Amino acid sequence: LFLLLICLYLQARQVRNLHRSAACAGAGGIFVHRDTPDNNADTPFEFTEENKKRIEAIISMYPVGHKQAATIPVLDVAQRQHGWLPISAMNKVAEVLEVAPMRVYEVATFYTMFLRQPVGKYFIQICTTTPCMLCNSDSILEAIQNKLGIKVGETTPDKMFTLIEVECLGACVNAPMVQINDNYYEDLTPKDIDEIIDELKAGRVPPPGPRGGRFSCEPAGGLTSLTEPPKGPGFGVRADL
Ligand code: FES
Repeated sequence: LFLLLICLYLQARQVRNLHRSAACAGAGGIFVHRDTPDNNADTPFEFTEENKKRIEAIISMYPVGHKQAATIPVLDVAQRQHGWLPISAMNKVAEVLEVAPMRVYEVATFYTMFLRQPVGKYFIQICTTTPCMLCNSDSILEAIQNKLGIKVGETTPDKMFTLIEVECLGACVNAPMVQINDNYYEDLTPKDIDEIIDELKAGRVPPPGPRGGRFSCEPAGGLTSLTEPPKGPGFGVRADL
């Protein structure tokens, strides 16, 4: 019965994702590129002097002749500078790394962390994979949608918030959770996410991490082992050895 429920859930999610994929800003929407007035090979993009130095430092970490290995970190620098990745930024990355543009497109279209469409100032990624779903991520999603008046894949008219639904973000033990820009907000209730959004709207970034009072990912019900300070090396070793 459990397996059947999981299958039904996954099937339902596939249908949901099919409906949403065209509007999904996080994954760059459709996988092919279509020129638009804001996103074409002539869209102005140049690395800042500071980022040029940063890129030099990144490339220097790889063996000579293997600049291509720096594709992901250099794309990340481009995205942090511009906010998202127009095709001209990808072309610039290809130029810097001395590879064919296609080698860069392959990476940028594969990893959902790369945004090929503009997003709001605060990019909310809500995890709705099974552990988060079982901890009621749907209530968090509903709270965000009600609060911001947008659906998954949409951006608020003031360009402040974009919402997308993502697969596991690796913080299952602190489910349910969302990622907002680089920060994880965990152990959420609808009231928590409401407060977090209010703080962001007020221009303050709330401290990331679990909201329920526990430290990091320690057991929600308190420690069950390692409850005393460690006794140090040598404890329990036989004196005659
Ligand atoms: S399932 Fe949500 S973080 Fe893993």
